[in-house]
Amino acid sequence: MPRLEEVFGVSAKPIRSYVERDEVDTRFSEALNSDKQIIVYGSSKQGKTALVSKYLPYEKNLLVSLTPKTAVLDMYHTVLSSAGIRITAGVTEKRSTETNVGFGAKVKALIPIFGGGEVSAEGGLKTGSGTEQQYEEIPINLELPQHIAELLKRVGSNRWIILENFHYLNDEIQKQFAFDLRAFQELGVRFVVLGVWREKNRMAQFNGDLLDRVVDIPVEPWTELDFRRVAAKAGEFLVASRLTQRGYMVALQWGTTIGYDILVFDKKDDVAYLEVKATASHPQKWLLQKKYATPNEDAIAADRRFICCVDLTPRDREPDVYIFPAAVVARAPHYFYTGRFSQSKSFVLALNSKPRGRTQHEGCVSVGEYIGFQDYLEQFDMLGVVPVSR
Ligand SMILES: Nc1ncnc2c1ncn2[C@@H]1O[C@H](COP(=O)(O)OP(=O)(O)O)[C@@H](O)[C@H]1O
Ligand SMILES: [Mg+2]
Repeated sequence: MPRLEEVFGVSAKPIRSYVERDEVDTRFSEALNSDKQIIVYGSSKQGKTALVSKYLPYEKNLLVSLTPKTAVLDMYHTVLSSAGIRITAGVTEKRSTETNVGFGAKVKALIPIFGGGEVSAEGGLKTGSGTEQQYEEIPINLELPQHIAELLKRVGSNRWIILENFHYLNDEIQKQFAFDLRAFQELGVRFVVLGVWREKNRMAQFNGDLLDRVVDIPVEPWTELDFRRVAAKAGEFLVASRLTQRGYMVALQWGTTIGYDILVFDKKDDVAYLEVKATASHPQKWLLQKKYATPNEDAIAADRRFICCVDLTPRDREPDVYIFPAAVVARAPHYFYTGRFSQSKSFVLALNSKPRGRTQHEGCVSVGEYIGFQDYLEQFDMLGVVPVSR
């Protein structure tokens, strides 16, 4: 079973809750297999980092997190150090446009000759075992993509260079880099650039030559379907996490076809079968399959089955989780549709609505009130399973 932090993506590792998006993921995989540079763009929190790190784990590639103070040379400096190449100051010389740079363009690169060596903080050259590591000293010019490319080739790095938060760089620096990016494409050094902007061909605006050397991948808009799939997964993980927090033993079913999302069990062989439904766009409203109206037709006894309805819409507080026994959910459509079901395969469980045709009737209660929904909010005891421990 996967660990919860892996599921929720607290670490930078690919997360189990990741939902592949047809359009976006396909384009990205295709771009990886081309020889072009990749630009991933879109507003904040729309999935740029999630997308890139799924295919190119950050710890296995050369990551540069940019800030408004980063200059092009800083970027290359970081790339080379991450690749195990040490840069020492050579002739001090600055580009007039790069007032913040702490070192000049003409420097010396120290390349470990037998590989595997590392450079200590004081500049002494050591290997892990303490024996002297041999380094080759090469004078280079950090301003020349050719030099950078050769160094990377020398140390055998074919890792991707990932530039996070490219939009932080000022326009002048972005433009400078756009020219280098083209050179790097010809030199076979591959970049993924991530940034917050909305317009297409952003890099090509700086350098027209880039047009057919980059692939632009917008992570927006989200299709309704992808969005719902993410909400569905988020709901499952939320319920699983609340259960584990309360000391229950759970098994996630990871989309297997047996029809239950989560099993909850204890040491006395009590088992509860949970299905999770989540809404991220309509408060207190879930779409349920028609079979929920007839809970006795299922192989598992109705009193062991629960529909967990998760409401992800609240913005200023935690989502709500209702633990409805199957029999309770079944009462809702019979009340709401007054016995006359539509032909469709699903029905809507909307806690706030009143039965069809009786919405104006005084004394006619809402579906939620009818099933006593408040009694099921966060009521995990309902499951009839004993928590193991905390
Ligand atoms: N395809 C996806 N499937 C599941 N969750 C996603 C997906 N894309 C993004 N997320 C989640 O949305 C949140 C924001 O995504 P992130 O990649 O950090 O956005 P950005 O880098 O564009 O600011 C993260 O918690 C991430 O796990
Ligand atoms: Mg990001």
